[in-house]
Amino acid sequence: MLYGSIIEQAKGILEEESWYVSAMSNISSLIMATLSDLNWAGFYLMKNSRLTVGPFQGKPACIHIAPGKGVCGTAVVRNETVMVPDVHQFPGHIACDGASESEIVIPIRADGQVKAVLDIDSPVKNRFSPEDQEGLEQLAKLIEEKVSWADH
Ligand code: SME
Repeated sequence: MLYGSIIEQAKGILEEESWYVSAMSNISSLIMATLSDLNWAGFYLMKNSRLTVGPFQGKPACIHIAPGKGVCGTAVVRNETVMVPDVHQFPGHIACDGASESEIVIPIRADGQVKAVLDIDSPVKNRFSPEDQEGLEQLAKLIEEKVSWADH
């Protein structure tokens, strides 16, 4: 139900303006305002073969992440969602905000290639459930279908 409402609102956002900067800005705000116990929600975009921070809500974050590094870079090389119940147990976790205890990263693809990731952090261990994963993967799919990556 919660994710049904998030998906409906995200659809409205993307239908009004599909440009990735506007859409990802409002979608990161939507996530932060709707889901409980989060300290960071936003996007990293592939740029010159590495992840570069994009629209987000939360404290200032690391700007560049190489593929294979951290939870975000791991999601890129695996090309699949990475859910981390306890970031202190994840080798190579990049601590942008010391408050983070658990994290989920979902790839967003264009033509089968990872184009961006949706990264969500929580100050609570084990914050993310299989229902969160499913709902957020549906959100990522909606973004893949509706977003415009053009910069003009
Ligand atoms: N923790 C992430 C880095 C990004 S911040 O959480 C915003 C990682 O390990 O990839």
